[in-house]
Amino acid sequence: MSELVRVTVPLGERSYDVLVGHGAAEFVGTFIPESVKRAAVVTQPGVPIDIAANIPHERFEIGRGEQHKSLATIGDLCRGFAKMGLTRNDVVIGVGGGMVTDVAGFAAASYHRGVPVVHVATTLLGMVDAAIGGKTGVNLPEGKNLVGAFWQPSGVVCDLDALETLPDREIRCGYGEMAKYHFLTGDDLLAMDLTQRIARCVEIKAEIVASDEREGGRRALLNYGHTLAHALEVATEHRLAHGEAVAIGLIFAAHLAEITRRIGVDRIDEHFAVVGEEYGLGTDLPAGLDPHHLVELMRRDKKALDGLTFVLDGPDGVEVVSGVGDEPVLAALDRMA
Ligand SMILES: NC(=O)c1ccc[n+]([C@@H]2O[C@H](COP(=O)([O-])OP(=O)(O)OC[C@H]3O[C@@H](n4cnc5c(N)ncnc54)[C@H](O)[C@@H]3O)[C@@H](O)[C@H]2O)c1
Repeated sequence: MSELVRVTVPLGERSYDVLVGHGAAEFVGTFIPESVKRAAVVTQPGVPIDIAANIPHERFEIGRGEQHKSLATIGDLCRGFAKMGLTRNDVVIGVGGGMVTDVAGFAAASYHRGVPVVHVATTLLGMVDAAIGGKTGVNLPEGKNLVGAFWQPSGVVCDLDALETLPDREIRCGYGEMAKYHFLTGDDLLAMDLTQRIARCVEIKAEIVASDEREGGRRALLNYGHTLAHALEVATEHRLAHGEAVAIGLIFAAHLAEITRRIGVDRIDEHFAVVGEEYGLGTDLPAGLDPHHLVELMRRDKKALDGLTFVLDGPDGVEVVSGVGDEPVLAALDRMA
């Protein structure tokens, strides 16, 4: 057995561990309390990890693609849970990427007003971000992740063996979120081996979540690059994957920070160097999108309490900036067109 690293998400009575390493899925049972009688395993076709839950369990497959991250899917799952007789003393196990863990987590949060959930993350993005921190939810046609709940898992497993079957494009999506952590901490994540790198990302996210579980303030920093990213995902009808959209969103945020005189041009160059060169991600805005439509989509962002709100780099590091006018936003989009 190669190295397994355990990272704690310290949230008082809701604290839990994240186990990272090759073969970590073997230990999923250690996160399931003995009192649990049944498990509902929520996954997708093609996800390579088969959970050997040694308790009676039923497997629920949800569709692939963001269009299935919907209230209809939650309804189907909850009806399935009811038919199998799942109770609040049982457990939901989400096995998949961020889509599965967001959906399984929200179904677990809602069914019987809350059933414990354990996540087995099988994409790089899920391991470094989506499975950690208790944000769950689904999309509406009006926008991404507009309906959801904070529901912390009882444990998370990141089994690196799963990454062997993950397409290159999905690996790049994980890099989008890693590049974000680079700007939040300045850490040289690419210098670490994969287990340490994923564990370090989990640690960074855990520390921020522990300081602001319900996103009253600091947790919003994890949305660096995400305001435009969410708008791009909707505007491209999800042809652009989440991590790809985040990479473009990071470059946009750098332009916007420079236009609003928070940073110098050298810092934009640094964003291009990290996102484009070091992580090898696309940095171009897709052609043919209407900038005014993107602005309208960004206005619906959940951070937007006061006009357009972004997470922007600045002299004191990355912070939440509200009340940004349309003009600089359109100027930043224009630079990227
Ligand atoms: N809750 C959060 O804090 C949070 C954070 C970031 C992103 N997200 C959400 O996560 C989602 C994106 O997650 P994602 O990038 O993991 O995409 P995803 O879950 O859609 O997975 C991408 C594809 O890879 C397949 N797949 C999963 N594991 C595989 C494996 N090991 N081998 C081969 N194929 C595999 C899936 O079936 C899917 O088709 C978005 O919905 C985003 O909003 C949530």
